[in-house]
Amino acid sequence: MNVNNVFLEVVVGNKSQLPDFHKVEIAFGGKSNVGKSSLLNCLINRKALARTSGKPGKTQTLNFYNVEDKLRFVDLPGYGYAKVSKKDQERWGKLTDEYLMERQQLRLVVLLIDIRHEPGKNDKMMYDWIVNNGFYPLIVATKADKLKRSQVQQHVKMIKNGLNLNVNCKIIPFSAVTKQGKEQIWEVFEELLEEVEVEKQEDALAQEESEVEE
Ligand code: GTP
Ligand code: MG
Repeated sequence: MNVNNVFLEVVVGNKSQLPDFHKVEIAFGGKSNVGKSSLLNCLINRKALARTSGKPGKTQTLNFYNVEDKLRFVDLPGYGYAKVSKKDQERWGKLTDEYLMERQQLRLVVLLIDIRHEPGKNDKMMYDWIVNNGFYPLIVATKADKLKRSQVQQHVKMIKNGLNLNVNCKIIPFSAVTKQGKEQIWEVFEELLEEVEVEKQEDALAQEESEVEE
């Protein structure tokens, strides 16, 4: 997709503020500091639209980015940051959970995992949580530039095993530094948008047919 127009449209701190949008939403989740903001900025060709906060774990909101008025990227709060209070962690869990469980517009969850390390307890929890909510997350293995090329596949395997990854889940090594993986990630998004377009046409056709029958 040719991306020129992106803006932060809504910041949501509790469920009642969830906007009544109708376009497809793609959510990005992952541990604090895993590179979520850097991935978002790379995907939308911007240096610093998604705030790369100096205070990790402070953001407890869902941030909705409007992308070309065609879809929305939703930046989920990072998890696993020790300095966040129990109460804040619970609030994070509740809001994210409600969003994942109830949001009709949400069609894809992207889960970021640092390619260098085995998935941690929180990563596994998040993965299971996403799957239990009926999604097959796209796994983006971040900071691939930190490894030698020859190590990448071995680490991809490590993440697959660590998460006990479902066969329906794709894993894409990515680097915000070299932009490796950017096109592959966009391909997944474009495919999804095409699918949704086909569904819409089928729905419209079914609607027409049912009206003819009446
Ligand atoms: P929170 O918002 O605090 O949860 O963090 P985040 O997941 O948004 O991470 P962010 O994009 O702010 O990146 C965290 C740090 O990792 C920053 O210092 C980035 O420059 C660095 N970083 C992110 N992506 C990459 C990458 O692909 N390669 C390298 N070498 N560094 C990266
Ligand atoms: Mg961030």
